[in-house]
Amino acid sequence: MLVQDFIPADIEVKTDQGSASWRAPSNIALVKYWGKYEGQIPANPSLSFTLSASHTHTTTHFKKRTEQGEIPTFDLIFEGKSRPDFHPKISTYFERILPYTPWLKDFHLEISTENSFPHSSGIASSASSMAALSLCVLEMERVLYPSMTDDAFLRKASFLARLGSGSACRSVEGPLVSWGRHEKLSGGSDLYGTAYGGSVHDVFREYRDTILLVHKGQKTVSSTAGHSLMKDHHYARQRFSPAHLNLTHLIDILKNGDLEGFAQIVESEALSLHAMMMTSIPYYLLMKPNTLAIIEKIWEFRRDTGEPLCFTLDAGANVHLLYPASGEDKVLQFIKNELVAYCEKGQYICDQSGQGAKKLGSAV
Ligand code: PMV
Repeated sequence: MLVQDFIPADIEVKTDQGSASWRAPSNIALVKYWGKYEGQIPANPSLSFTLSASHTHTTTHFKKRTEQGEIPTFDLIFEGKSRPDFHPKISTYFERILPYTPWLKDFHLEISTENSFPHSSGIASSASSMAALSLCVLEMERVLYPSMTDDAFLRKASFLARLGSGSACRSVEGPLVSWGRHEKLSGGSDLYGTAYGGSVHDVFREYRDTILLVHKGQKTVSSTAGHSLMKDHHYARQRFSPAHLNLTHLIDILKNGDLEGFAQIVESEALSLHAMMMTSIPYYLLMKPNTLAIIEKIWEFRRDTGEPLCFTLDAGANVHLLYPASGEDKVLQFIKNELVAYCEKGQYICDQSGQGAKKLGSAV
């Protein structure tokens, strides 16, 4: 599909108001997206597990405006409080999506949103929040264009979410979602995420992700700044082609259930992401000493027990522990005995792969 295919037909908007409520999950990339081109186009394809417990719940009320404007007006309530500091990000999102949702400028939006995880936990909420808001917008669009199919709905919700935060396009469906073109992914697109349709071994069903909260403060360098540092990065090309290759291997591994191979790809992807940060100009570090201590402990545990536990990292210090459901008791015991000491206030979140976003209600 082309960008133009997401522009709806011009209609007279006769509906005065409506509301929609969606819950969208966070996601954790196995092959990472890091670096992008104009228009939120990823420099390499990525693949993620959609999560389940970590999500954003957003309700949006749409009211027809009396005066004409160029972009929609909105109020934003986050966890019960007005947050004007979130406005610039949402305004940028509306400016970006407006060519594809021209009807939106006739409305005022009251957006009320909350996360299932603490906001200051260092877990990126942009993926789940942008996906939830996009789904609410599309729910209203579906009222205006009732002929929209379910497939077109999900595709466009992901397309809009991508314009808010790239990785958000992988937070609409589940349990595995790809984004970006790759020779082994039929139907893969740079414009939206696609539910992974390849064959997946049973061992990956309800795969566990326990998120160790190592550092809950604000990141020193944002993802937006990190992506743009990839533009003139000396090693950018050396990063993009292994990402393609890693995805090729991962597609085989998802099929054959080779958990040793899985650990190798996923850990190498996480460390490559952070290596890009450490070698950009200016260079920076998002890992903390406790991130490294946990990684060492995971390797020791894997060596000593043979349990197929591995880790991945986002653009932050927290560590995601990935493992099959069958290993849950042993891994949770290991976390309690050895890893909790490295977590800020001993906190961690138990999550697992999930089925994607869920509609919680709508009205006109
Ligand atoms: O979606 P953004 O722009 O916040 O980028 C996030 C990128 C990573 O989370 C580091 C990797 C990924 O693929 O999710």
